[in-house]
Amino acid sequence: MLVHGYAPKYAQYIKPYLGSHCPPTIMEIGILRGTGLAVWSDLFPSSRVVGLDIDLSHARANMRALKVMGAFRESDPELYEFDQFAPDSSPLTAFLKGDRVDI
Ligand SMILES: C[S@@+](CC[C@H](N)C(=O)[O-])C[C@H]1O[C@@H](n2cnc3c(N)ncnc32)[C@H](O)[C@@H]1O
Repeated sequence: MLVHGYAPKYAQYIKPYLGSHCPPTIMEIGILRGTGLAVWSDLFPSSRVVGLDIDLSHARANMRALKVMGAFRESDPELYEFDQFAPDSSPLTAFLKGDRVDI
């Protein structure tokens, strides 16, 4: 079994926002089928959840199935095509529309 040890690090950064009156803006880069976005939305229903991927086809194809299973009850995540290694990061500014990323 692969033990990557992400959970304690996730907990460290996420805990301060749980129960906060100010919902965090969340950006996930590399979303594949969007299951991570569903988890973020479930954990923080009032948050703005932004998903980026170099290829959105898998996430787009899976959105309906995720919704049938109860994901994204409050609001849909925002999806943008983006290559995280692109030298021009200005699209990130445009995606965020003045927001800053908390998580
Ligand atoms: C392992 S999957 C991510 C799994 C996802 N985080 C989850 O929780 O289900 C990796 C994703 O990164 C995306 N990806 C690969 N290279 C990328 C790049 N340069 N920029 C943005 N996304 C990229 C792939 O298209 C793929 O969807």
